[in-house]
Amino acid sequence: MKKILLVFFVIFSIKTNCQNLVNERAKWFVNDRFGMFIHWGLYSGAEGNWKGEKVRYDNDYAEWIQYRNQIEKSEYIKLSKRFDWNKIDPEEWVLLAKKAGMKYITITAKHHDGFAIWNSKASDFNIYNYSEPKRDIIKDLSEACKKHNLKLGFYYSHWTDWEHPYAWDNSKEIYWLDKDKFDIYWQEKVIPQMKELLTNYGEISMIWFDMWLHHDQTIVSKDQLLQLKNLIREIQPNCLINSRLGLSVEEDEDVDFRTLGDNQLGEYKFDYPWQTPATVAHSWGYSKNENEWKSTTSILRSLIGNVSLNGNLMLNIGPTSDGSVPYEIGKRFSEIGKWLKFYGKSVYGAEAFDLRSNLHDWGLITYKHNKQGKHNVFLNIFDIKPGNSLNVTGITNKPLNAYLISKKSKIKLNFDFNKAFLKIKLPTDLPDPYVNLIELEYDKKPTVDRDLVAKSKFNGYSLKLSNSKSYQGDYILNESKREGSIPSNIQVNDSLNISWKIFVDKPSKFNIDTSYNFQKKITDGFMTVSINKKSYKHRFNYTGKTVGEPIQDYIIDRFKSSTIGTINFEDVGFYDIDLKIKTSSQNPLQWQWMWLEEIAD
Ligand code: GLC
Repeated sequence: MKKILLVFFVIFSIKTNCQNLVNERAKWFVNDRFGMFIHWGLYSGAEGNWKGEKVRYDNDYAEWIQYRNQIEKSEYIKLSKRFDWNKIDPEEWVLLAKKAGMKYITITAKHHDGFAIWNSKASDFNIYNYSEPKRDIIKDLSEACKKHNLKLGFYYSHWTDWEHPYAWDNSKEIYWLDKDKFDIYWQEKVIPQMKELLTNYGEISMIWFDMWLHHDQTIVSKDQLLQLKNLIREIQPNCLINSRLGLSVEEDEDVDFRTLGDNQLGEYKFDYPWQTPATVAHSWGYSKNENEWKSTTSILRSLIGNVSLNGNLMLNIGPTSDGSVPYEIGKRFSEIGKWLKFYGKSVYGAEAFDLRSNLHDWGLITYKHNKQGKHNVFLNIFDIKPGNSLNVTGITNKPLNAYLISKKSKIKLNFDFNKAFLKIKLPTDLPDPYVNLIELEYDKKPTVDRDLVAKSKFNGYSLKLSNSKSYQGDYILNESKREGSIPSNIQVNDSLNISWKIFVDKPSKFNIDTSYNFQKKITDGFMTVSINKKSYKHRFNYTGKTVGEPIQDYIIDRFKSSTIGTINFEDVGFYDIDLKIKTSSQNPLQWQWMWLEEIAD
């Protein structure tokens, strides 16, 4: 499923990358950036286990247990007896979202099991009929959201419904299903339930559909999807709709934001709104089998990483059958909330900056045009030794100020700026254990040089095809293989020229290394590196073989680093580095990278 989504995502992106697709409706969404997902339903009572057996399937999605473990409806509904109906308090979820710094909530009003967690007139299979005392969780949650001023949205499984005889349940792939019958389900359950959700619970900020295939590949017709979409637009014109509705942006630009695959983080910057739904462990619905929890730092990295590419993160809780939230989730949420309280300006209302993503090895950059008219570039630092200097490459204006944000105050930092390079001196004590934040202040939007390769914290430059300024010639991109023991590489069968641009911030000497695999012992193949009018010729060496994994009986080609020479940069400034590889199809070269590293005198 993930792969299919990725392909769609890439295709869409090519088409829409240059348009500004943030419509009026979605303005709050791109500002708020961080939301809470809640998976809660009958399955929460099973806790990922059925009659002593764990949920079948390795993704451990506990909300799929009815389907995975082949549970009859009459048995499944008995799970309602396990719930502590007096205790469940949706206001607690709202308070937790607030504490975590989340600005909106999306709850599974009806998941794939077809069970409505509100008092639905359109289907008996709902919580009101099976709780004691009778509960309407959507009502309680919507009141709590209103009380605490949080936006509320509904997840609604429109395509898959394991309860209705004519809805899509995946075993229908064996017997298939009549389109007319599917429409009976659509008209008697989906449409009336959607009307209820949009009419009885106040303002709804989004409907989050969950069909991860384009409608062409499913039983759902485009007309049915348009009927649904038009209904939402008619009753709640401001309500957002996500792309898992099943309509592509090419067909309908009216879809408000794109949903990536489960836990799929952004890799590219896009101008339209998008979001990653994410879990703290694996399952969405509560599962007592969980034991691998993501760290607070890694969740913050996912959030900031998405914001740095114009995306949102919606992080899930799977409350139990008494409504409580697992300790491990609560703990991380409160840590994230504390971080956002002090450093949230680099997330809320922030967006991607114009530099290449993942340019720097110390962390991530976000950007904001703030209310006072100033422009802020936020350096979110994950990885630096206190007391060291932070290298920022590529911004071509000098900042007015650089501040280290701390809980108590802003600390003004000293820095040196030269053309496109900023060196910021960090104090020996950094205030935050997770992510430290530096705010750069400008009076206009800073300009950038997108061609530059960043100087690494090891005082080196890592030169790859992906961060080159330009290239010419043919190559084959070989993906990494065998668990990564064979690294990804650029295979050259004839010739390839690659150019990079760097900024050297002080006169210094560098070693030039390159890594490749070459399996011939005699060759006239060579590469030439030209920097600052000097050229270095390197004839390919035979790199030999190595063992891929101890005692696994496999021998692989060896990728090995060779030194090409040393270069002395006498002047501070910009330099072009050109690499020319020349070989033949009988002598292919699998090239990886070049590495320039400063040599101490
Ligand atoms: C998938 C799963 C579902 C989960 C959702 C969250 O589509 O089918 O169980 O609700 O992803 O993104």
